[in-house]
Amino acid sequence: MSETLTKTATRPRTDCRGVPVSYPNADAIDALERAITMSLSFRGDPVAEIESTLVDHPDFIMGWLFKSAWMTQYMETRIYGEMVAALGEAEKRISQANDREKGHIAAMQAWIKGDFHGAVQKWEAVLFQYPMDLFALELVHLTMVLLGDVVGQRDVVARVSNNWDESIPGYEFVLGFYAFGLEENRDFSMAEDHARRALSIRPDNPYAIHAVAHVMEMRGRQAGGIRFMNERADVWGTTNFANHLWWHTSLYHLDMEQYDQAFDIFDNHLDSRRKGGNKYEELDAAALLWRLNLSGQPSGDRWAHLADKWEPAAQDTLYAFNDVHAMMTFVSDGRTDAQNALLSANERYVQSASDANAAMSREIGLPFCLGVQDFKNEHYAACVDRLFPVRYMTHRLGGSFAQRDIIAWTLLEAALRAKRFDLALGLANERTALKPTSAQNWRAVARAFKGLGDTGNADRANARAQSLIAA
Ligand SMILES: [Fe+2]
Repeated sequence: MSETLTKTATRPRTDCRGVPVSYPNADAIDALERAITMSLSFRGDPVAEIESTLVDHPDFIMGWLFKSAWMTQYMETRIYGEMVAALGEAEKRISQANDREKGHIAAMQAWIKGDFHGAVQKWEAVLFQYPMDLFALELVHLTMVLLGDVVGQRDVVARVSNNWDESIPGYEFVLGFYAFGLEENRDFSMAEDHARRALSIRPDNPYAIHAVAHVMEMRGRQAGGIRFMNERADVWGTTNFANHLWWHTSLYHLDMEQYDQAFDIFDNHLDSRRKGGNKYEELDAAALLWRLNLSGQPSGDRWAHLADKWEPAAQDTLYAFNDVHAMMTFVSDGRTDAQNALLSANERYVQSASDANAAMSREIGLPFCLGVQDFKNEHYAACVDRLFPVRYMTHRLGGSFAQRDIIAWTLLEAALRAKRFDLALGLANERTALKPTSAQNWRAVARAFKGLGDTGNADRANARAQSLIAA
């Protein structure tokens, strides 16, 4: 080790973007770059990659910080001990850390305390000083998506945009981040331009593919979306993000009432009963099955396997977004004990905790958990009363507009089933105004008109749905 240090001591201590790294070993810095690229391109196991380097380079502070910080994105309790331990290894060596690394340590210390927003601010402070710190940019952008900071997930990229160009390694990922941020802020045209630029540099860039998928979803370009996604399915990468891209593909099919195709996607790509699975895979799986059920499609025994996966996490109170998907599986599989465990754990938690997730859970997570319970118990009016007041606050749950649409759709379906047809018509009209190419949205309009006794408009809405399917 000492020989290596002597040999490399005169080398500039920076990564390939000129960002300072305190540990003076080129092999270790190259390994960190590989791990960061794996995380950005959704390929391989970035944590395993850096761990293998840390065996030979235990003093590589930025290596420990990569491991710890990347684990924040898992949003699972099972990795918590490892995440804390990796931070501890970096803290032990803080006297050797440079300012950038001290900033990353401070961010992780905030995260461990549950201060997710504080962690983001500390990563942002690193980024202000080192705008080429691609890992800090990745962490800020992705965490803002997790926390539902819609404007921030776009603007964090804009703030560094004039520092970057195509000559800098990783630029295609920066374009992908910006594309998604633009899309979530409804700047669809610019979003698609940036995503396609990213794809022209690197076609196998799942995050840029994802940004285009969101644009097509929000703009109701179902046929084009299915074609675009299927043409790129072989470059979606090897991580759970591939499942998310299959979930996106299923949304186009749902819009066109192509339920067999949506079930095929679930059975062939999202059903985790044949593999270990992680929370992201199970999120997408639950999100698709719930939508299929809202569409009136029975799902056989598919919920049981999914509920098995979620039940150990019933009392996690780690991330409200996980909890609402866990609750969908418990109510759909009739697991009363798991429902009660999740609700009582969350009710205790929001009364006593003050961390970032407590606010997410209190404002949106718990109302939606109770709403899905009401829905499954056929207490549709109660479901409406619970979800209607929070429908414009749902971004606080995190995730994307496409993901959170499950709340609006549940509210609409509950209004229809509660025979509150005037409200249902208004909610369905909102959906056709935003996405007039969705046959499913027109079916909801038709059902609401029919409930109000307006068969003429109901027939017209059904005909519109039919023509979209035929087209
Ligand atoms: Fe997405």
